[in-house]
Amino acid sequence: MARTTLESWMKAQSIPAPLARIFAMTADCGIEISVALRVATASGQNGKAGSVNVQGEEQKALDIVANDIFLRRGAASGVLSAMVSEELEDIWPVEAAGPDARYALVFDPLDGSSNLEVNGAVGSIFSVLDIGKAAGVTKEDVLQTGTQQVAAGYILYGPATVLVLTTGESVTMFGLDEVAAEFVLVEDGVQIPVEANEFAINMSRYHQWYAPTRGFIEDCLSGKDGPLGKPYNMRWCAAMVADLHRILCRGGVFLYPEDEGTKARGGRLRLMYEANPMSLIVEAAGGAASTGTTRVLSIEPSDLHQRVGIIIGSRAEVETACQYYADRARPYP
Ligand code: AHG
Ligand code: MN
Ligand code: MN
Repeated sequence: MARTTLESWMKAQSIPAPLARIFAMTADCGIEISVALRVATASGQNGKAGSVNVQGEEQKALDIVANDIFLRRGAASGVLSAMVSEELEDIWPVEAAGPDARYALVFDPLDGSSNLEVNGAVGSIFSVLDIGKAAGVTKEDVLQTGTQQVAAGYILYGPATVLVLTTGESVTMFGLDEVAAEFVLVEDGVQIPVEANEFAINMSRYHQWYAPTRGFIEDCLSGKDGPLGKPYNMRWCAAMVADLHRILCRGGVFLYPEDEGTKARGGRLRLMYEANPMSLIVEAAGGAASTGTTRVLSIEPSDLHQRVGIIIGSRAEVETACQYYADRARPYP
């Protein structure tokens, strides 16, 4: 089979030049972060950094390493005028951005970082926004709904490093050839199976779930004689990128809904750099993403680090889960 690199794929697809620069830059971040992860255990870099981020979460040394890689390469890309990261409180303006700079990169440099100390899978997630200006970027410029994203992607650092990209139309998957240090096309037009029989949720939160979440999962657990009429399997990787990559490959539904424990913050996962980019990818692959009652991509954001409940994956499975939200008595979002 002829080998198609990310670069040749972008040429063949006529990806617009600024977007191609951003995709190439994120791919380079993925390669550099992969290398950092490969040596982290041996060099004792897989532990805590001794600091907390803006959300009060303990930072790992590699959260900071990955963040710095994105900032350095993003600033050099020439097309970004601002960056927003899970690890930074405010918008990070790109100093001396060139005249072509009109995009913002909103990103989670390392997702699932609690897996670092156990050599588990982690990822990076990014969203690309067209803010139409090179300088003076404000929160209002960046607080766009998910439907306005011009592109999104993630990198999964598993046994192999995988890059998944979308411009909102279709989804393309690349694998890293570590010897050649380049991403190679694995699959174009990735589609999520409409139905599946696998769910992903942190079951330890059972006692905090709202009634609709409890109802859906209890019915999944009741197997083929229950109301859903089929047996379900369960998986939980503790890294959204790893869980959603599995779902992209073979279907299923991932749930991190708002519950009693997260309602004060509006949920657990972050809208701008976790839920929105993943929802753009999953919808472009024929799947769906909802809070239970609202399409994730339609939410009007009010804060860079806003959190949200999310039910995402195979379309029929998400619709089934959301039906419990339509049917059960409130309170829930
Ligand atoms: P991050 O490491 O960027 O803070 O994100 C971790 C997120 C997400 O990737 C994962 O699905 C979830 O947190 C895991 O949550 P639990 O601690 O409840 O397993
Ligand atoms: Mn994350
Ligand atoms: Mn993170």
